[in-house]
Amino acid sequence: MAVLIPAAGMGTRLGEDQPKAFVEVGGVTLLERSVAAARDSGVVDEIIVAVPETNTGTAHRLVPDARIVVGGAQRSDSVRAALAVTDAVLILVHDAARALTPPSLFADVVAELSEGTPAVVPGTSVADTLKRVDAAAGVIDTVDRDMLRAIQTPQGFRAEVLRGAHAGAGDATDDAGLVEAAGFAVKVIPGDAMAFKVTTPFDLRLARLLA
Ligand code: CTP
Ligand code: MG
Repeated sequence: MAVLIPAAGMGTRLGEDQPKAFVEVGGVTLLERSVAAARDSGVVDEIIVAVPETNTGTAHRLVPDARIVVGGAQRSDSVRAALAVTDAVLILVHDAARALTPPSLFADVVAELSEGTPAVVPGTSVADTLKRVDAAAGVIDTVDRDMLRAIQTPQGFRAEVLRGAHAGAGDATDDAGLVEAAGFAVKVIPGDAMAFKVTTPFDLRLARLLA
């Protein structure tokens, strides 16, 4: 079982002075925390991390048990760079930015994959009321929340499914998006609130409080 960890984003919305994966929470970088969670799950034996070209040396030092590759301009480019160096049959993809994800969530995804499900993603129900709006912020309608899930990582795939989805040059905010677009079925299992993505300064404050 390999886990690919895209960590090559710049963290523009976070607005720190370094790429997001290298920002610290409680003195430990998001990258180190994400790699540790994957390792501690006990279900992963190969860890591949995609980082910005300028950060490869730092990454080697921070996560010496991971294989380091140079990421690309889009998230999917970074995933493809990591995918290119593994021949694992089952593959997880996990955002470095979801640094507080419990190891148990990796095990849950792998358990579902091991049952033969080809594409598995964790997701949570949505608490807020959701409305569709137009360009002028006028409400078009209210969306049925019961039919929606907020999707997290780690996402698990049979390798041929993930490779098929990434064969085009497409980009999506997650790998399951590409897998769906390629026509494969994707199953959602219960996610975990701690698997939230550090995206904004508020998320970083939250992560620091939780850590
Ligand atoms: N990622 C990546 N390569 C990219 C873009 C994103 O490996 N070219 C990674 C990020 O490092 C992160 C994950 O994909 O772990 C989720 O992306 P996101 O939260 O959007 O991170 P950033 O792209 O860094 O943030 P922003 O969009 O605010 O710049
Ligand atoms: Mg991004």
